[in-house]
This record gives sequence, structure tokens and C-alpha cells, in this order.
Amino acid sequence: MWITWKAPSPNNFNPAADPGLMRMPKSRGGCPATLMKKIQRLEMEGISKSFHGIHANKEISLSVGSGEILGLLGENGAGKTTLMNILYGLYQPDAGQIKINGSPVRITNPMESILMGIGMVHQHFMLIQNHSVIENIALGYKDTPFFFPKIKIREKVASFSRQFNFTIDLNQKIWQLSAGEQQRVEIIKALMNGADLLILDEPTSVLTPKEIEELIIILRQMKADGHCVIFISHKLDEIMNICDRVVVLQKGSIVGSADTGKTDKKTLARMMVGRDVVFNISKEKLAKGQEILRADQIHVTGDMGLPAVKGVSFDLHENEIFGIAGVAGNGQRELAEAITGIRRIDSGKVTINGKDITNLSPRHIYDHGVSHVPEERIRFGIAPGLFLYDNAILKQHHLKKFSRRYFLKYNDVKTHTQGIVDDFKVLTHSIDNQIRNLSGGNIQKLILGREISEQPRLLVASHPTYGLDVGATEFLRHHLLKLRKQGSAVLLFSEDLEEIFELCDRIAVIFAGEFMGIFDSDDERLCEIGLMMAGSKRI
Ligand SMILES: Nc1ncnc2c1ncn2[C@@H]1O[C@H](COP(=O)(O)OP(=O)(O)OP(=O)(O)O)[C@@H](O)[C@H]1O
Ligand SMILES: [Mg+2]
Repeated sequence: MWITWKAPSPNNFNPAADPGLMRMPKSRGGCPATLMKKIQRLEMEGISKSFHGIHANKEISLSVGSGEILGLLGENGAGKTTLMNILYGLYQPDAGQIKINGSPVRITNPMESILMGIGMVHQHFMLIQNHSVIENIALGYKDTPFFFPKIKIREKVASFSRQFNFTIDLNQKIWQLSAGEQQRVEIIKALMNGADLLILDEPTSVLTPKEIEELIIILRQMKADGHCVIFISHKLDEIMNICDRVVVLQKGSIVGSADTGKTDKKTLARMMVGRDVVFNISKEKLAKGQEILRADQIHVTGDMGLPAVKGVSFDLHENEIFGIAGVAGNGQRELAEAITGIRRIDSGKVTINGKDITNLSPRHIYDHGVSHVPEERIRFGIAPGLFLYDNAILKQHHLKKFSRRYFLKYNDVKTHTQGIVDDFKVLTHSIDNQIRNLSGGNIQKLILGREISEQPRLLVASHPTYGLDVGATEFLRHHLLKLRKQGSAVLLFSEDLEEIFELCDRIAVIFAGEFMGIFDSDDERLCEIGLMMAGSKRI
């Protein structure tokens, strides 16, 4: 691999201060000599960045040292990803500078940051969909030679995933993987490069508790080995558990920082949101209403041509939230897609309000009152290049209230969009904005607003709180309970067991495409849910 080292701009970098900087040693692809040293300390000083005149980052200064795990907290749209993208060379700051081991550096692209020893797990997966897992890992692997020995890299990845307890088929194409599996690939990819400074932007959002534990062990090991880690998460328990120190952002500025040993979850949430957040919501007991959904012996084939859902049957009623718990890749995505019409059902039957909807088109199924929050919001939930108001009526554009003959009623569409933006507190400078410019959590809020605001009979929601901050999560959970109270049914796919237990009336555990059992949420047998999710117990 040929790498050219671009000399940093003389404006904020003085090679004369250290003659060694001009040397081009071989390892680390020709980085200056001081940067060949392990990163002992990284500082960001006075970093500012605006988009369309709005500050995403405003004079942010922070530092992280060797053997330290720094948490970065903040509401959706607070500027966390922007700041880390600047550190990784994806954006250039409008002002401020980055220093490594006390020397100013200019990082103009991700290749430079990788060579300096910085690795990043991105919030939105950056994997190439048509390439296999092994190819994607090899692509970003810094020791891959020009003609890379695939077998050698395969062995390395396999031993690494074994150590990490990740089971993943290296030959599968990325488009065949669930969100959770893609997240695992991103993590392996970043960890394999052995970065001195690792940035993790919401790495655990769709991992299972077991996988999160494994990741925590690895991060602790990295800390003991003297690496620096910056960890972004909305899960306060994780931040408290993993990080030494935490910096809180609000609207692009730092509003506080604390040692995790000297603070608590409530204080952090208040610092972030500016008010107290209720962590445990209580749901009132409701009697089941009429049957809404019935799935009878459904069989569905996965992307690899193998059976993904094998004879699943269940029913779902008015005033009920039915949770499906399981490790990603056990048939959840295929089941959700089959019910919403995106994937063919090989055999079996699905009815909504007693009407057969098996293998109808997604539009027809939507017209039967079924909404869908997909697990991969960027790929299946939105059209990234379209404006917010276009995205707010995807699937609904044909409704009378939004269109007349061949034309959209844009005034009505925009009023509707503004309503969702206000109700769901979507942070955007305007609804005339491409949705790709929104932060991850704000994209999710718009999707949720679109799917919930139409009062569906059935909401099929995969990881609905994925990427939402604590305040927005609290808001959404209340909204799901409100839907339940109003007589809708919710089919909830989640790997967050806390969420499943808190919201669901009944819970099914899925493993290898089969239900290991269906339980009421107060069933004592659920204490063995971990074993069932791992497939070692069927009840
Ligand atoms: N390329 C861009 N063009 C325009 N605006 C942008 C762009 N990237 C980020 N922004 C804006 O910058 C602000 C901060 O976004 P950022 O993605 O950094 O937030 P975040 O803290 O990571 O939020 P989340 O928790 O939702 O991921 C948001 O208002 C977002 O809309
Ligand atoms: Mg983000």
C-alpha cells in the first residue's frame, strides 16, 4: 500500500521546533517521527465547527491521556459525532487545533489519522455493502500488503473474533447482516488495527448485554495496556461502568465534566438534558383487547438462501406490547420484514384483524394499519438525499391528505412535517434540509414520528430507541405505552433486555429462527432468558 504523508500546514505546525518531524520513517506509513511514538496524550483545543451558520461545536477543549477512558455524553445533536469526525479527519474544524503528545497536528483525512494511531467505530456503519466481512476488514487493515494474503488475514480475524466471543460468518456480504452483526464487524475492524487512541461512537447500541460485557473487558485491557479511548454512549450505566471521566456536551458546547467515581447517573442526565429524567417507567396493567396480528407457522428464507424463520407462531392483541428478545442474527430482521411485506413468506399465514395479508406488498400492508420502524434507519428508514418533508411522508404520499391526483400538496406536507418536528423535538435548522445532515438520534426521531403519528393498528418496531438520548428514550417509551393504551398493538424487537422487561406484556425469545418460549413479563422462568437467547434452554 502506498501512503504519502502530507506535511501539516505551517499555520499551526512548526517542524523546525522538532527536526525529527521532517523524517519519514517506514513504519506508520511515513508519519513524522514524533507521531511514531505511542499517543500518550491527545488534546483538542478550542475546536469550533458550523454548518449553515449553526454551531455544531463551539470552542470545545478536551484531552485524553494514556490509560484513560473518556466518556462523551450529550443529547441528540449535541455535536459528539461532529467532534469525533474532526479528530478522525473527516471534517476540518473552522477554528482550534489538535495536539498529539504536545505537538500540533493537522489531520486532513482518515488515512492520516489511522497512521497516527487513531481508530474509530462509526455511529453509522461505514462498511461496503457488496463486499464480504473479511474484505471489509482487510480494506481498513493497516498491515494489509498490496496483494494481501487472504488466508492469513482470515486466520487473524477468526482468532480475534474467538477472543472477543463474536460469532460471525466471514464470507457473508455486509448487506446480508443484521444491524447488530454489522456493529460487530465495525468493532473488530477498529480493534484489529490496534489503535493507540480508539474512538467508539455508540458502539453498543445494538449489541447484546453479553457482547457489551465482552467489549468492556477488551476496553479495560486496552486501558491497562496504556491506550486512550473516547467512548460515546447514551447508556449511562455503561458510561459509569467503563469511563474514568466524562465530558458533557449541550448544543455544541461543553456544559460540564466529572470523574465517574464522583458522580452518578442522575447528575449526568440532569447535566445533559437540563432536567430530571425518570429511568424506570411503570406501565399500568391493561386487559388484552381483540386480536390484531396472528402469525401461523411462518417460514422465511434468509439472504443466504437458508431458513431464517422456522415455523414461528404467535398472536398479538389490542392494548398489548409483545417483545421479541434475542441475539442479533437469529431471524428477527427476517421476521419483521416478512410481517411488513418486505420479504416473502415461504409458508404459513399472517393475518391483521382477521384478514390474510401474507405476501401482500408493503404498501397494502401499510394500508391495513401496519407501521414499521426498521432496524437500519439509514438504509431502510429514510431517503438520505431527500428533504425532511419528503421523508416525513414516505409510504404516506398516496394518502388523500397529502396528494391530489399526480401532485403532492406541499403546504399540507410541510405543516405535517413541522408537527412531527415539534412533537418529537427533532433538532434541525429547517424542514428544508436534507435528512442526511441530521444527527443519528434526530433521524430516528423523525422516523418514529412518521410511523407513530398515524395511530397504527400495529407498530412493528425494531430497536426503536437505538441512538436516542435519555430524554428522547423516556419520551418514546411513554409514547409506546400511550399507543398501547389507545388500543394499538406493538411488536417490539430489541436486544435491550431492560427495555423489553419495562415495556412488554409478553416476551418471546428467539434463537436460530425458532421461539424458545413465549412468557408473560412476570413469568419467573424469564430469569433464564440469557440461556434461552444462547439457545441452550427451551421451555
Ligand atoms: N454534514 C452536515 N451538514 C449539516 N449539518 C450537520 C452535518 N453534520 C452534523 N450536522 C449538524 O450538527 C449538529 C450536531 O450533530 P452530531 O451528529 O455531531 O450530533 P450528535 O451529538 O452525534 O447526536 P446523536 O446523539 O444524535 O448522534 C446537528 O444539529 C446536525 O444536524
Ligand atoms: Mg452522533
